[in-house]
Amino acid sequence: MANILGISGSLRKKSFNTAILAAAAELAPGTARVTIHSIRDIPLYDGDVEASGLPAPVVELKEAIVAADALLIATPEYNNSIPGVAKNAIDWLSRPAADIPRVFGNKPAVVMGATPGPNNTLLAQAAWLPVLRTLGTAYWSGGRMIVGGAGKLFDADGRLTDEPTRDRLKKFVEGFAAFVERHNR
Ligand code: FNR
Repeated sequence: MANILGISGSLRKKSFNTAILAAAAELAPGTARVTIHSIRDIPLYDGDVEASGLPAPVVELKEAIVAADALLIATPEYNNSIPGVAKNAIDWLSRPAADIPRVFGNKPAVVMGATPGPNNTLLAQAAWLPVLRTLGTAYWSGGRMIVGGAGKLFDADGRLTDEPTRDRLKKFVEGFAAFVERHNR
């Protein structure tokens, strides 16, 4: 069983990215489980705060990543790049730097993203690549999950209802789960 830890890069209650993560959990194959973790309680990074100890929500999320087999990030796109709240969370999780190999090293990781706009988050996803490379993750590039026009694809409760998008997401999660299984063998 591949335990995949999902992080949404949005704090919004009706976030399309949190919703697509929930759909990924629903559509995951029997060989995988996607659990969704929030970055809501991660404070703004401050080196002075770090000097007096990592905040508890940072420690908790770090240890959850250590315990997971893989990392799935659902990223919004802000100004053609990574939203600050999401990057801030990953920056905290990368502290202290000596802990990066334990938390992220060789950890299968992949990014997907949804936007109501026409541009499908490809630039935000690309912006994550140097970050995840720097952290030493084993990035899966065997699939791509980009979602534009998200406003038309979910129902009022945030359930992904668009069948072609569900099919694409199912194949994407299956592909990633298979990669995680191969990686951990
Ligand atoms: C956006 N949005 C946006 N969308 C996009 O496709 N490309 C972009 O560059 C941007 N830029 C951007 C900047 C800022 C500051 C905001 C607040 C928004 C729109 C964005 O995709 C939309 O708000 C999504 O709904 C955000 O994702 P969640 O919260 O639905 O997951």
